[in-house]
Amino acid sequence: MLKFALVALLPELVRPVTEHGVVGRAFARGLASLTCHDPRQHAADRHRTVDDRSYGGGPGMVLKYAPMAAAIREAMADLPPGSRRLVLAAHGRRFDQAQAAALAASPGVLLVAGRYEGLDERLVEAFELEPVSLGDYVLSGGELAAAVIIDGCVRLLPGALGDEASAMQDSFVAGLLDCPHYTRPERIEGREVPQVLLGGDHAAVRRWRLRASLARTLAWRPELLVDQVLDAEQRALLEEVRREADAAREGHGIQGPRRPAGEDDEQAD
Ligand SMILES: C[S@@+](CC[C@H](N)C(=O)[O-])C[C@H]1O[C@@H](n2cnc3c(N)ncnc32)[C@H](O)[C@@H]1O
Repeated sequence: MLKFALVALLPELVRPVTEHGVVGRAFARGLASLTCHDPRQHAADRHRTVDDRSYGGGPGMVLKYAPMAAAIREAMADLPPGSRRLVLAAHGRRFDQAQAAALAASPGVLLVAGRYEGLDERLVEAFELEPVSLGDYVLSGGELAAAVIIDGCVRLLPGALGDEASAMQDSFVAGLLDCPHYTRPERIEGREVPQVLLGGDHAAVRRWRLRASLARTLAWRPELLVDQVLDAEQRALLEEVRREADAAREGHGIQGPRRPAGEDDEQAD
């Protein structure tokens, strides 16, 4: 069982992820558990104050050391030895699929969610918290980030997905984006499913999917290909895809690498 312990002011933003869908079923079947620890329960005053002004001045409040430390200690008591200790923070290491897999393989995960300007930095030192970020933007609190991390980890637990193989095909698992998928009907509003997917030739389907994965990665996340070690078949398919993309760009009179819509528009001005 993968145990999560959450320290947060608004755990009600996180609990729903443990109650619905594939991840909800994994929790219901005992593959994972979540305990929530509210720093307000550990505040010393009758107003249950957990924040205070920032030393040095400036706007914004900071989560106080004492109630947060007490909640973190309570949370850690619910976790087995060897558990990871994370603090959600915009400045942290970017959460990715490899980290989701590493956390899913750990015995437990402490998730400390900030609010306001964040928490007193001495908590990070005292509890050796690893800062983890969802991306280059600022959320109003760490709760939704904690929910995303729980979802990303729990779906990887053995037995969580109906078909274990489906997680292996997902984007980022093998360093590429997933290929496009189609379902019935074969034709709708004049749009057809690629013929190769209908023919039952498994080798041709595998090759089409690999090629489509490479094409999608090249179009949307070319940086993923930079450090990717490709085998001979992948290299040949990527070369084909590159040539096609170059030819399409030349056909449209576009120069340079393809960029997502919006960036191209700006360049055209
Ligand atoms: C308003 S934010 C604090 C932002 C902080 N002053 C900064 O500029 O980095 C409040 C809390 O939201 C969470 N948070 C904000 N952005 C995040 C992100 N990109 N990833 C993970 N957590 C985030 C953190 O827990 C943070 O303490």
